[in-house]
Amino acid sequence: MSSAEHTTKVYPPPASIVQGAHVSGMEAYRKLCAEAEADYEGYWARLAREFVVWKKPFTKVLNASDAPFYKWFEDGTLNVSYNCLDRNVEEGRGDKVAIIFEADDGQVTRVTYRELLEKTCRMANGLRELGVKKGDRVVIYMPMSVEGVVAMQACARIGATHSVVFGGFSAQSLRDRIEDAGAVMVITADEQMRGGKQLPLKAIVDEAIGLGGCDSVRHVVVYRRTGGQIAWTSRDRWLHELVDKQPSTCEPEWVEAEHPLFLLYTSGSTGKPKGVQHSSGGYLLHATLTTKWTFDLKPDDVFWCTADIGWVTGHTYITYGPLANGATEIVFEGVPTYPDAGRFWKMIQQHKATIFYTAPTAIRSLIKAAEANPSTHPRHYDLGSLRILGSVGEPINPAAWEWYHEHVGGGRCPIVDTWWQTETGGHMITPLPGATPLVPGSCTLPFPGIMAAIVDETGQDVPNGHGGILVIKKPWPSMIRTIWGDPERFKKSYYPAELKGYYLAGDGASRDAERGYFTITGRIDDVLNVSGHRMGTMEIESALVSHTELVAEAAVVGRPDETTGEAIVAFVVLKRPRPTGEEAKQIANELRNWVAKEIGPIAKPKDIRFGDNLPKTRSGKIMRRLLRSIAKGEAITQDTSTLENPAILEQLAQTN
Ligand code: WT7
Repeated sequence: MSSAEHTTKVYPPPASIVQGAHVSGMEAYRKLCAEAEADYEGYWARLAREFVVWKKPFTKVLNASDAPFYKWFEDGTLNVSYNCLDRNVEEGRGDKVAIIFEADDGQVTRVTYRELLEKTCRMANGLRELGVKKGDRVVIYMPMSVEGVVAMQACARIGATHSVVFGGFSAQSLRDRIEDAGAVMVITADEQMRGGKQLPLKAIVDEAIGLGGCDSVRHVVVYRRTGGQIAWTSRDRWLHELVDKQPSTCEPEWVEAEHPLFLLYTSGSTGKPKGVQHSSGGYLLHATLTTKWTFDLKPDDVFWCTADIGWVTGHTYITYGPLANGATEIVFEGVPTYPDAGRFWKMIQQHKATIFYTAPTAIRSLIKAAEANPSTHPRHYDLGSLRILGSVGEPINPAAWEWYHEHVGGGRCPIVDTWWQTETGGHMITPLPGATPLVPGSCTLPFPGIMAAIVDETGQDVPNGHGGILVIKKPWPSMIRTIWGDPERFKKSYYPAELKGYYLAGDGASRDAERGYFTITGRIDDVLNVSGHRMGTMEIESALVSHTELVAEAAVVGRPDETTGEAIVAFVVLKRPRPTGEEAKQIANELRNWVAKEIGPIAKPKDIRFGDNLPKTRSGKIMRRLLRSIAKGEAITQDTSTLENPAILEQLAQTN
């Protein structure tokens, strides 16, 4: 092999993108970083004045007096929906298409900024009529739809704090979130359409409320999507009946910058999901700024983020960022594989999408699909409208990166590999397409003003070329404010004492010696990333042991998976003799369905192994590192001398 093959392949930004980019060239990038370095608060204050319309301008920038409960722009007031909608109409973009909605069956609806504003005002008035006030929590359990976006915007308009729950979560998970948030209302749909199938939503809301603990809910508002049969109770209201009679204008509720815009539940390393609380002012600033700079968004772009509004990516890069920039964006109801795996490519061609933002797991599964059925390969479509590609949610392996670059981007589109989290609100480490030379598999450099670093367990900087713990050294405007109802857990999870006031992201990372580029190596806690979905191992373990009739004990670990990034492997001890053969298969299936019912189908273990026991130390601690090796099918080379019951390893290595 020649030495050239060992050098990392670098993709400099194409001249056509550098030319006229919002951040054009590395000098421009470095200048912004230097500005933030020299006057951190001044830098963010300048951007907050440029990118956000304030009702009452702020005079204070950062308040760190109660760290880590940081406050940004605290004496300013604003309304997020005003910034996303009214602003565009007032600036002459009322007739511009805001949303190109494509339904599961391919039907297309276009909604202008003026229409989106009117829909939002009607819904906001409807919510007010039902008594929803500033600070109330509203759970949104909806399909991908214009109405879903409008529901979020309507909450923002009246100062209600929304908490969107992904439509794939079970009744039990929905119930837990409604109860934890103390929601006064749930907005849902009769059913959702995905891949040609009708899936219930309202019935799951009914079931969730029926499980108890949801007494705070006064109303359930139902968007009629399919017209399918649903049960009806006195707390239910049809969305169309509620909004049709409402005026099409609605005075926004001007809220303080720190007012909670939304809660979004995400998995942590304990069994209970945490309600990540975001602000209004700081969050909107970063959503607006990153959408513009990371995607080099221009007025004529057609932006498409394929995420669901149930995840933070859908919040920041569907509901808020693109609209705050007055962009035209695609909202897609369906799935990438229906009617076939060419759906994304067909939609890019039809709508002339210029910016496309998706997850590595989708790319990997579409590569596989194109291999199995070559007619779905992107080469059969005209993707010439694309300028910029994005990746989010998990590390993108270089092979998938190269395929994406060549076959989707035609070799001419930069790929922005954006590292961030539910807690960070928006992009933290990412290339800027008109500036940063790309290295496949690396999310490159921090967004200007984000003080990302790699440290050891004591908070000491680690030199480039070595791995360590990813931290953010200074607070930033769109950071998590607290965990809803559990400030202690917020402090413990993100600001552990050893780290000297740095934000702990929970990921491991390294920086290369040559460029200082970051590469994310994966979670350092008991959190898995399955198809870009965050899953706590303890959450799945709790779900398994809640099957009290069958399960005595369970341990869950991750295993690398070619398509889904990581796969869930569960080791289970039953309350009956260890099953084998057909019986084992059947019980494994029952447990898989049980987990789907408890959490949602995304949490189903791929592999379930049964043992008479789990590998434990003499003090009774489960040895997870051994389970991880067994799950991968590796020979055990670790020290097993502290293991109480070594024979168990062989048993657990057997697949069903
Ligand atoms: C975790 C956050 C980011 C919004 C969607 C997921 C992993 C995310 C990348 C990336 C490597 C990534 C991290 C992070 N992750 N983006 N570009 N490269 N890893 O948000 O559910 O809060 O998950 O996703 O492990 O901690 P989330």
